[in-house]
Order: sequence, then structure tokens, then C-alpha cells
Amino acid sequence: MTKKTPAKIPAHIAIIMDGNGRWAKAHGLPRLEGHRAGTENLRQIIKGCAEIGVQHLTLYAFSTENWSRPKTEVDGLLTILETYLDKEVDELCAEGVRLHHIGRLEAMPESVRKKVEHSIEVTCSNTKLILHLAWNYGGRDEIVHAIQKMIRDGIPSKDVTEELVDRYLFTAGTPDPDLIIRTSGEMRVSNFLIWQGAYAEWYVTPTLWPDFTKEELFKAIEIYDQRDRRFGNISSSNNEN
Ligand code: FPP
Repeated sequence: MTKKTPAKIPAHIAIIMDGNGRWAKAHGLPRLEGHRAGTENLRQIIKGCAEIGVQHLTLYAFSTENWSRPKTEVDGLLTILETYLDKEVDELCAEGVRLHHIGRLEAMPESVRKKVEHSIEVTCSNTKLILHLAWNYGGRDEIVHAIQKMIRDGIPSKDVTEELVDRYLFTAGTPDPDLIIRTSGEMRVSNFLIWQGAYAEWYVTPTLWPDFTKEELFKAIEIYDQRDRRFGNISSSNNEN
């Protein structure tokens, strides 16, 4: 960071990496090239988060709804994920990044699932930053999954509290996101962290994901730093009559 470091660094940033398709179109390229460019962009953003002291980064890469895209795009994205893991796991370790997955891993093709599991294992002792990869993830699906598991575990209804629900989500043990970034200008939640994001601050930018730089990430953090987070309370500077 060239300018002064913000006083308040979000412990958890979550990103909806949107706009790969439009980026490809603008460059006269097939959609998968947009996803490849978006994947290349991960390096600087992960590095930026580790550099500034963010502890958790969640990336929304493939939603439960994305299976309905053309098969060539779905297959292409799965291949991009496999290649990314093959190529980048050493770099993740060098940066002190631990990989974690959220979503329905069991419903992913076996070869991809195994690579994800292997990468999680290889990076498990890294402590600088936890990278939560949301792949085959949907917020509603996560809640359904949690309820099913609670019922299977025989949890009586009187014991169902917000804290208990937290423990049944894919994100159990992870603090809620402080800042959610969405690229490409869309003003939608798109089924992302719908429980955990209840009090997240949002930064929406027209920048398409492959063009989203570390500098813009730092700008988003500076804007977050200036926000007054009230969590339903009144402002701390406004509590006198
Ligand atoms: C949304 O853009 C992006 C996706 C559905 C895929 C995001 C995936 C990556 C950045 C690469 C894979 C990530 C890893 C970790 C290997 P869009 O296709 O909806 O764009 P559009 O709205 O402009 O069409």
C-alpha cells in the first residue's frame, strides 16, 4: 500500500468475481478466455489480501446455478480449476495461503474433487490467509444442507439458535464477511453468503473481474475503513441525547 494503511482491515473479504464474459466479449474473445483472464487475476488479489493482513478471502467462483450454463463453459471452468490447482498450489504455499472449500464438493466430478481435496491437504498448515473457494456453492442450498444435517443429528427445535446454525454451515468456524465486493456493477446478492453476509459492507464496482487490480482492492478497503458499521445500533458518535 503506497498511501497510509487503513486503520480497519476487514478480517474477511468475500468477492463475487463477475464480468468475465463481458470482458471476453469486449476483447473479441470466447467466454472461456474471460474466465482464464479472471483466473490469472487471482494471484494479485490473493497477494494483496495476504500483504495487508486480511485473514479470510472467499471467492465465489461457481454457483449451484452455474451448472445450467452451456456444457462447454461448465467443462471449461472445471478444467480451469484443475489447471489452477496444479499450477498454483506451490505459490499458495509460498504466500502462506491455506485452501478451504465451501459448497457441495461431493457433487463435483471425481478428478476435480480429488484435486481440491489434495490442495486442501497440501496447504493445511499455512496460516497467513485462508482462501475459501466457493465452488458448487449456493446460499440457499447451504441452509438446506444445514437443516438436513441438524435433523439427522436429532437436534431438538429449542436448541436451534443462530450460533448453532452457524456451526452447521459450510463456513463453520469462519468469521462473517466484513466486506463483500462485487465486480461488473451488478447490484445483486446472487445467492452468495446470504446468512453470513447479513451485516457485511458492500463495495460494488463497474470494473470487470479480470481488470480488478490490487490497487482497487486497497481502495475498497479504504472505503470500508471509512464506513460506520452499526449492526442495527446507532452510530457511536450519535449516542447522546
Ligand atoms: C462470472 O462472470 C464468473 C464466473 C461464473 C466464474 C468465475 C470464475 C473464475 C474467475 C475463474 C475460476 C476460479 C478459480 C479459483 C480457478 P460471468 O461469466 O457471469 O460474466 P458475465 O456476466 O460478464 O457474462
